[in-house]
Amino acid sequence: RRADALPFDLAGRRVVVSAGGTREPLDPVRYLGNRSSGRQGWAIALVAAARGADVTLVAANVDLVEPPGVRVRQVGTALELHEAMLETTVGADGGPVDAVVMTAAVADFRPMDPSAVKIKKAAGQGPPTIGLVENPDILAALSRPGPDRAAVVVGFAAETGDGTADPTTSVLDFGRDKLRRKGCDVLVVNRVDAGRAFGRPDNAAWLLAAAGATDDIELEASVPLGPKSVLAAAVVDALSRRLGGSGP
Ligand code: CTP
Ligand code: CA
Repeated sequence: RRADALPFDLAGRRVVVSAGGTREPLDPVRYLGNRSSGRQGWAIALVAAARGADVTLVAANVDLVEPPGVRVRQVGTALELHEAMLETTVGADGGPVDAVVMTAAVADFRPMDPSAVKIKKAAGQGPPTIGLVENPDILAALSRPGPDRAAVVVGFAAETGDGTADPTTSVLDFGRDKLRRKGCDVLVVNRVDAGRAFGRPDNAAWLLAAAGATDDIELEASVPLGPKSVLAAAVVDALSRRLGGSGP
């Protein structure tokens, strides 16, 4: 192929990408949400499709034009995302897809008992108390060993560090812990403090990888601040390597 051409290394591979951020209803007009725009997942879906993959994008509240050549499924809440991921990560033949990338920002908790009618201020009663329940950990579920597990599972982690002087160290430490806890193959760790990442066209990240049978975690790649398309290509490269692709 030409040196400037995209590799066609994912031909015949099935990839599912989640993007955006879930919204958890409080009542018919209000929700608990987050600042994820969906751009990073969009970019990954687009690159994977351009490199030949059959891509499904599960989009939670994303306000972007649908990427060409990609099947898009819209969801709203974490429970809907969970259901959609369980459904789409099983292929038409009943076997698992090849790769799953969870870029979606999933609400950790949802209002326990969303109101069917708009919550009103009651004079003199002060603010209401909102009870929360924990949402399922979708990435952990998709990472669990078994016949339905995709060959490659990639998670994302947005971290601010712990507020101490050396954010790089604490961000990477949180990332290593999270990779172990989730059981995914690769964790893309990016810093989201000080206006980084969210809603912006650029991103910088570390790709942490589980090193096979041992408990070791290696720093597979360090992607400097640049367009989300560049980080997307690095993530797709990591997928491709694990799927034995002919790409980089
Ligand atoms: N994730 C998920 N389901 C959840 C929460 C998170 O699938 N209920 C996924 C995200 O899509 C992301 C990864 O897990 O790929 C890490 O999300 P993050 O919020 O950083 O992890 P948490 O385990 O929720 O940890 P934290 O306490 O830092 O929020
Ligand atoms: Ca979380």
